[in-house]
Amino acid sequence: APRYPRYTREEVGRHRTPQDRVWVTHGTDVFDVTDFVELHPGGADKILLAAGGALEPFWALYAVHSQPHVLELLREYKVGEL
Ligand code: HEM
Repeated sequence: APRYPRYTREEVGRHRTPQDRVWVTHGTDVFDVTDFVELHPGGADKILLAAGGALEPFWALYAVHSQPHVLELLREYKVGEL
């Protein structure tokens, strides 16, 4: 299995805009989803609400994400771990 760099939540929180890159966490995994923002079926504005922090509070509200194909897509953007 590949080893990933470790980041703090504070460091993830510095990545909230496409200019600064858009990072999110899911569990203890860190993702750079900058290149997915404009491809998001729910719109760029919605995905940016989670920028710099955890996906779980948002995904709890939008059950459309509770499907295996969504996690498979997310996995492609993994850049690190907390
Ligand atoms: C739909 C991925 C963040 C709101 C979707 C779909 C995917 C996806 C793949 C289509 C699912 C399907 O129809 O089978 C992601 C990823 C995210 C993310 C990878 C973060 C990295 C968010 C956030 C919100 C959100 C933070 C809300 C604040 C929605 C909504 C839809 C949707 C409302 C339904 C769009 C529609 O069908 O009209 N998302 N999402 N998403 N997402 Fe996200």
